[in-house]
Amino acid sequence: MAEGFDVGVVGCGYVGLTTGACLAHLGHRVMCIDKDVRLVAQLGEGRMSFYEPGLEELMVKNADRLRFTTELTSVTREADVVFIAVDTPQGEDGSADLSNVAAVAWSIGRALSEANRDHPLVVVNKSTVPVGSGDYVSMLVRDGLEEAGGGEEATLFLVVSNPEFLREGSAIYDSLFPDRIVVGADSRDALDTMRALYEPVIEQSFPTELDPRPKVAVPFVTTDLVSAEMIKYAANAFLATKISFVNEVANLCELVGADVGSVATGIGLDERIGSRFLSAGIGWGGSCFPKDVSALRAVAREYEHETPLLDATVAVNERQRRRVIRKLQRDLHTLKGKRIALLGLSFKPNTDDLRGAPSLEIAHTLGTLGASVVGYDPVAGKKAASSKLLPASMKVAFDPYEALRGAHAAVVVTEWEVLRELDLERVASLMRKPPLLIDGRNALDPREVRAAGICYRNFGYGSGRNAFDPEEVGAARMRYRGFGRG
Ligand SMILES: NC(=O)c1ccc[n+]([C@@H]2O[C@H](COP(=O)([O-])OP(=O)(O)OC[C@H]3O[C@@H](n4cnc5c(N)ncnc54)[C@H](O)[C@@H]3O)[C@@H](O)[C@H]2O)c1
Repeated sequence: MAEGFDVGVVGCGYVGLTTGACLAHLGHRVMCIDKDVRLVAQLGEGRMSFYEPGLEELMVKNADRLRFTTELTSVTREADVVFIAVDTPQGEDGSADLSNVAAVAWSIGRALSEANRDHPLVVVNKSTVPVGSGDYVSMLVRDGLEEAGGGEEATLFLVVSNPEFLREGSAIYDSLFPDRIVVGADSRDALDTMRALYEPVIEQSFPTELDPRPKVAVPFVTTDLVSAEMIKYAANAFLATKISFVNEVANLCELVGADVGSVATGIGLDERIGSRFLSAGIGWGGSCFPKDVSALRAVAREYEHETPLLDATVAVNERQRRRVIRKLQRDLHTLKGKRIALLGLSFKPNTDDLRGAPSLEIAHTLGTLGASVVGYDPVAGKKAASSKLLPASMKVAFDPYEALRGAHAAVVVTEWEVLRELDLERVASLMRKPPLLIDGRNALDPREVRAAGICYRNFGYGSGRNAFDPEEVGAARMRYRGFGRG
């Protein structure tokens, strides 16, 4: 790569900030733009707005090539490439709300009308958008351009789709060592620009302290705009389906006396299936899977096309949340007045993101059933305490043992490492007797939990690992119920 590109990244959230920091690390000069004035000021002062391992360090390391502004216009005039990485939340009808993408595309068009360019601006859509949105972005840039006085659009901009596959919690790793880079465009020049931009990742030539590098080269998949957009939705829908599939199997395992852990290992070793995303439990959540599966179903509805597999994926996932409640009710019966500790609030470990987190739904359901809910999360706790997403009645404790003090039951909602390291004897001594733990992520060692005198329930273990053992139950001073004893 010659001297690097001038890049604008619109949206300083999980995707935009990660993209900006990584592109700066590759040697590009990056301007990160956001409409949130306070956020831009905060980032300019070097203060992070969310938790993502390694991101702050990367930003500090590449600070001389990374700037923050609210001014899209000047950036658009000078940049070679502008990424759109704004949020596309779920609308009321389940479809993706494109208003932020539309606002940015239109503003880019306006800014371009005043630009004096010798090469077209490559407008890269990184936000997850419904299939066909590339054309919509082109139309809006053109609209902005025309409204502001026009210009030769063909020489002014090219639109590209470059879906993002990063996982919160390992966003930097995923961006620098991705499984693939997907770029969709109708223009050869745009594809060439994107290849040059990502060359250090494709060829794995950027500086890294990882030795050996996890990848030697990264596939660069080029396609048309619509297919690139479809790849993103299809990837998330497939992963969500894989989790729902293993949960369906887990529920059957409980009935027939099989262990889902062994089953997942046994099927996952088949290379056609693969072992990842085969963890049974509370199910999928987060800021992407629910909204992306919902948006894909909404796209299908536009064409009056049915999606029975995706519908079932969602239905199974919703049922998993209810299974947590059923498992609590099975032991505690009425939940009214019972104190329940939710351990882990973020939608997965290593992030403070609460959007679409299973904890939200579980907390709300427990609240409506009259339980008093106290949550704990090692990183998202502070965010949760002030978040409107969680029920106002829910308390947040900043120490797991505080959350567990006096609790009738605890639910492991997010498999944070710190929860695996809890002092279980202490947990048992703090909780009401008999203490009950529902392991929504199959994260703890059942023998260790039971050895501490805690009644343990997990997901998908129908055999010995989760069976009622009268001896063990006796040791834990728990009520043992044989078949039909209620
Ligand atoms: N978070 C993920 O793990 C992830 C992974 C892959 C893809 N995506 C997709 O990437 C997109 C961004 O997701 P995110 O999680 O980073 O969102 P986010 O909510 O964390 O950040 C979005 C940012 O965009 C800013 N913004 C909104 N409208 C703007 C405008 N008109 N001008 C300037 N700034 C504006 C917001 O102020 C916010 O800071 C979404 O489409 C999402 O589906 C997210």
